[in-house]
Amino acid sequence: MKQRVLVIDDEENLRHMLWAMLRKNGYHADEAENGERALAMAREHPYDFIICDIRMPVLDGLGFLRKAQEAGIGGTIIMMSAYGTIDTALQCMKEGAYDYVSKPFRNDEVLLVLKKAEERERLKTENRRLRAEIGREYSFGAIVSRNGRMREIFELIRKVCDVKTSVLVLGESGTGKELVAKAIHHNGSRRDGPFVAVNCGAIPENLLESELFGHVRGAFTDAAADRAGLFEEAHGGTLFLDEIGDMPPSLQVKLLRVLQEGEVRRVGAERTTKVDVRVISATSRDLEREVAEGRFREDLFFRLNVFGITLPPLRERLEDVPLLAAHFLEKHGTALGRPGVRVSPEALRLLAGYGWPGNVRELENCIERSLILCDADVLGPEALPDALRGSSIGGAVVYPEEDHLSIKKAEERLEREFIRRALDKTNGNRTHAARLLEISHRALLYKLKEYGME
Ligand SMILES: Nc1ncnc2c1ncn2[C@@H]1O[C@H](COP(=O)(O)OP(=O)(O)OP(=O)(O)O)[C@@H](O)[C@H]1O
Ligand SMILES: [Mg+2]
Repeated sequence: MKQRVLVIDDEENLRHMLWAMLRKNGYHADEAENGERALAMAREHPYDFIICDIRMPVLDGLGFLRKAQEAGIGGTIIMMSAYGTIDTALQCMKEGAYDYVSKPFRNDEVLLVLKKAEERERLKTENRRLRAEIGREYSFGAIVSRNGRMREIFELIRKVCDVKTSVLVLGESGTGKELVAKAIHHNGSRRDGPFVAVNCGAIPENLLESELFGHVRGAFTDAAADRAGLFEEAHGGTLFLDEIGDMPPSLQVKLLRVLQEGEVRRVGAERTTKVDVRVISATSRDLEREVAEGRFREDLFFRLNVFGITLPPLRERLEDVPLLAAHFLEKHGTALGRPGVRVSPEALRLLAGYGWPGNVRELENCIERSLILCDADVLGPEALPDALRGSSIGGAVVYPEEDHLSIKKAEERLEREFIRRALDKTNGNRTHAARLLEISHRALLYKLKEYGME
C-alpha cells in the first residue's frame, strides 16, 4: 500500500513541486494551503506523514502541530523551515515534530527524511508486535520463547508443577535452567513455600554437608550453635540443587538417603527430622556420561531424574533471538532509565546470525552492554561486540534449528547466503556478483537455478 503524505504550504509553486516529486517517488500525496484546511483533510483520512511549512496565513506550522496533537491526529510531522524560522522549527521538534528540512532543500533531502521516518515507524510497529507477543503467548513466567521445543517445555512445567516429583533440568550454561526451576516453583502448589537455591559446585566439600543438612552445636570446631540446613529451610517449598553434577561422591550417598527417607540428620545429631521438600536439580554437565564414567551415582541419578527437562541451546532456536533481544531491551532499558530503545534491522540480523556459545545469558549481557555503551535510541551494528560482527556467517546460516549436523545442508545455506549478499552488494548485477564470489558467471547462474533464487 502506498504511504500517504500531506504537503502543507501557502506557496503554491513549492507545494505543487513537492506534490509531484512525492507522486513520482511512489507516495500518495495531497496538498493543503494552510493548517486549517490540513486539519480538516487529516481528520477525514489520516496521513502517514505530514510535511508542514512554518510561516503560513490562517493557521501556521506550530499552531497546526499543536491542534493536530490535541485532535489526536496521527502521522509523523516534518516541518519545513525557511530563513528566520529555525527557532520555531526546533520548538516544533520539542513539541513532537519528527524532524525538519531547511528551505531551500533538494528533493533527495526530503526523501531521505521520509525514509528515516518510515524506518522508525516500522521499528516501532515491530517492537510493539514483539512486546505483545512476549506478553501474550510467548512466555511462561519469566521465560520467553516462541520455539516449538521450548513451548513443549512450558507444557512439561505445567504438568509437573503441582506434584512433588523430582525434576532434573539439563542444558548448556546460560540456557535458563534456574529460570525453569523458578517457574516450576512459582506456578505450582508450593508457591507460598520457600524457594531455596544452592550451588553445589561453589561450596567446598567439607562445608556443603552442614550447609545442606545443618549441624548441632559442637559437631565441629566452628559449630558454636545448632543450625538448620537448607533442606529444613526449604520445608514446604522447593530446594534447587544447582550444578548437581559437581556434587562430591561422599555427599551423593547422603543426599540419596535424604531423598529416599524424606528426613535429614544434622551433622553430629542423633535424631533425624522429617522434611517436606520438592527437589529440582540442574547441571550443565552431561550427567549420563558422568554416570557411565563412574563420577555420579546411578541410583541418585534415577532419583533426581524422575522427570527430566532438557533445554535446547540458543543456536538451535535462533527464532527466539529477536524476541529475547526485545525482552532484554525492555528489562535493562527500563532499569537504566532508557525505555524505548530498539535494535536496528541490521544489528538484529547480526544477533540472529551469531552462534551464542554462552546462550541466553550471553545475549542478555550483550544487550545490557550495548545499552550502556551506546546512547542512541536505535542500536546499530557498531553498538554490538566485535565477536558478533566477525562471525555472523556462523550462526543463522550454519546453525538453523533443523538438521543442523548436515554439512551438505550447511554448505548450501552458506552458499545461498553469500550469493544473496553478493547480489545485494552489486544491486543484482550477476557478472559483478560472480567476481565477488570468485566463481564463474556460469557457475553462479547454475547455482541460482539450483537454489531457485532467480
Ligand atoms: N527463555 C528466557 N527468557 C528470558 N530470560 C532468559 C531465558 N533464558 C535465560 N534467561 C536469562 O538468562 C540468564 C541465564 O539464565 P539461567 O541463570 O536460568 O541459566 P542457567 O541455565 O542456570 O545457566 P548456568 O548453567 O550458567 O547456571 C538469566 O538472567 C535469565 O533470566
Ligand atoms: Mg544456573
